[in-house]
Amino acid sequence: MTEKWREDSEYMSYVADLLATEEVQKLDEYIQHYHSTRLEHSISVSYNSYKLAKRWNGDARATARAGLLHDLFYYDWRTTKFDEGSHAYMHPRIAAKNAAKITELSDLERDIIIKHMWGATIAPPKYKESYIVTFVDKYCAIKEAAIPLTMSMKTKWQRYFSKQSA
Ligand SMILES: [Fe+2]
Ligand SMILES: [Fe+2]
Repeated sequence: MTEKWREDSEYMSYVADLLATEEVQKLDEYIQHYHSTRLEHSISVSYNSYKLAKRWNGDARATARAGLLHDLFYYDWRTTKFDEGSHAYMHPRIAAKNAAKITELSDLERDIIIKHMWGATIAPPKYKESYIVTFVDKYCAIKEAAIPLTMSMKTKWQRYFSKQSA
């Protein structure tokens, strides 16, 4: 994962207080998409969404903050099931609840978090920034899941070619 976000002082001024919390740091203990922890995933969604929000004259601060908090939940989504609804429906609500414990959420920030599973859930985003985060989240999930696949393909190719040249 690129570490450019660390040197981006504007970005850091928006999220440094959140990054310093135990609640956010704890996300590093959970695997999200095979190759990334939930913290790494949350930072890439936050930073990439922040850059797009800036480019499209959105609220970059709200996008950066809500992007960082969009998956603020502490269970393994592959094994935990809920009676009240699917993981896609439940975890944005749990994340919003957890986020509200560490910072005040604006309407926009709450919408970004709650609607980020749009596509799998029905309610459409209310704001441009929420659309950005839901698309960036999907893009990052595909990228993060695809890295090991690419690596295993590479191994297969190497084996194939070494057989050819043997
Ligand atoms: Fe999510
Ligand atoms: Fe996510």
